[in-house]
Amino acid sequence: MRILKKKYNQLGSYIPISEREPNSIISEQYRKLRTNIELSNFNTEIKVIGLTSTLAMEGKTVTSINLATVYSQSQKKTLLIDMDLRKPKIHRGFKMINQIGLSDMITHHLDIDSAVQVVSDHLHILTTGTKLPFPAEFLMSDKLKDLIKTLRNQYDRIIIDTPPMTAVADASIISSFCDGMILVVASKEAEVSVAKNIIKDLTQNGAHIIGTVLTRVSKKDNKYLSYYYEYK
Ligand SMILES: Nc1ncnc2c1ncn2[C@@H]1O[C@H](COP(=O)(O)OP(=O)(O)O)[C@@H](O)[C@H]1O
Ligand SMILES: [Mg+2]
Repeated sequence: MRILKKKYNQLGSYIPISEREPNSIISEQYRKLRTNIELSNFNTEIKVIGLTSTLAMEGKTVTSINLATVYSQSQKKTLLIDMDLRKPKIHRGFKMINQIGLSDMITHHLDIDSAVQVVSDHLHILTTGTKLPFPAEFLMSDKLKDLIKTLRNQYDRIIIDTPPMTAVADASIISSFCDGMILVVASKEAEVSVAKNIIKDLTQNGAHIIGTVLTRVSKKDNKYLSYYYEYK
C-alpha cells in the first residue's frame, strides 16, 4: 500500500476545497450533495455512485474529488475510482502518480492494497493505471464487474469519475454497475436538449439517475438558489 499522506499534506494547493476550507459555502454545497444522495433512496443503499456529464470540462472530476472527500469526512470508508480511462485526471487532483491503478488490478491480478493510494484512513484513491488500448472492452469485462462486487464489501461508498456521455459510450457501460448516477451540468454550457437526451439514454440503459449537479454558476446568477436539485 503506497501511503502518500505526507506528500499530500505538504502540497496545500492539491488539497480539495472541502478538506482545505471545510467551513466555506462551497464545501457546504458538497456536504448538501452528500446528504441529498443519502436521502435519494430509502429502500436501497446507494453505495456505488457514478458522475457523468454531457460535455468535457463540466466539473465531473472536481465534483467527484470533493464528494469523495465529504463522504470520508462523515466517517464513511470511501474509495474514489478514476474510470475516465481516456483522459484520467483524478491523480492530478491529488498530485499522485498514476503508475499502478485499476487496469493493473485486473491485468496483473493485483490486490486492492497494492493498487490503491491512501489519502487518509477513510479516503482511498484508485487511479486508472497503465493505459489500455481498448477501454470500452475493459469496462465491459466480467472481471471489472467482479472487482466492483468485491470492493463493495470493503468500502462504505465508491465514487466513480467517468468520461462525458457525448464523446463515448463508457459512461453508459459504467452506469450498469453503479447504484446511482449523478449528471454534472455546467451552467450555460450544456444544451438542455442534449442533457435531456443523455438522461433518456442512461435511463433506457437501466441507469438510476439520482440527481443533477449544476456547476460553474456565476455569483451574480442568483436564480440558482441551490447547487443541487432533483431533475425529476
Ligand atoms: N462547481 C464548479 N464551479 C466552478 N468551476 C468549476 C466547478 N467544478 C469544476 N470547475 C472547473 O471546471 C473545469 C473543469 O473541471 P473538471 O472537473 O476537470 O471537468 P470534467 O471532469 O467534467 O472534464 C476546471 O477548471 C474546474 O476548476
Ligand atoms: Mg474529468
